Amino acid sequence: MAARDTDLRDRVILALDVPTIGEAESCLNRLEGEVRYVKVGMELFYAAGPEVIHMLKERGLRVFVDLKVHDIPNTARGAMKSLARLGADMVNVHAAGGKAMMAAAREGLEEGTPAGGTRPLLIGVTMLTSTSQAVMNQEIGIPGLVEETVVRYASLARDAGLDGVVASPLEVPLIKKAAGETFLTVTPGIRPAGADKGDQTRVTTPAEAFRLGSDYLVIGRAVTAADDPLAVWQSVIHASYGSTGRNRG
Ligand code: C5P
Repeated sequence: MAARDTDLRDRVILALDVPTIGEAESCLNRLEGEVRYVKVGMELFYAAGPEVIHMLKERGLRVFVDLKVHDIPNTARGAMKSLARLGADMVNVHAAGGKAMMAAAREGLEEGTPAGGTRPLLIGVTMLTSTSQAVMNQEIGIPGLVEETVVRYASLARDAGLDGVVASPLEVPLIKKAAGETFLTVTPGIRPAGADKGDQTRVTTPAEAFRLGSDYLVIGRAVTAADDPLAVWQSVIHASYGSTGRNRG
């Protein structure tokens, strides 16, 4: 099982949800020297492609390529092989794709990792943090509590050889109980105290997320759309240290 980073500053991931490389670079310039781990999602990757990953790696950043792959096992394997070759540090697949797909994804990563390199962390997406209980039950048609589905997906992901899952911080204690303390949790839906929730329904503050046991926090618009991204970023890091009183690096 992959070990998590010990310094909290390596555990807060900035979501670069912007449409161009230029905007990603100007966002990073405003946060120069502060951010260590970034996330490239579908908006930026589909627009800019592998070039954006090369640019981020040249800046010395770690990169979570968040493409939420969900396809037949053979295609998932190929996608992961390409992402490992690209130098991603973390990638993800939907746990709803099932065990065979997740296991194939892991094999693809192993095949694509250059000799002597480190395999990217493979994370399963459980239930999107924008999905409410009512939407899951009434629209998607999955009965029961969101937490039950999340725990089921997490156990499935662990059995398939994944390193962890994406989930709401509120679900972290249950996931750790079901899948083990070392099974990683990557948690979006982070809002500094008093910030706008946007389209996320299950949100927590950075301090609360760490207190609940999150291994990695993903934070986007609360920083990138702020008038002063640097001030918000620094307050997030400051509040995070306050949450545990440990790992000050
Ligand atoms: O702007 P905000 O902080 O809400 O961004 C959260 C990021 O995390 C987005 O890039 C979104 O795609 C991603 N994400 C999520 N919920 C998941 C998986 C990923 O919000 N379950």
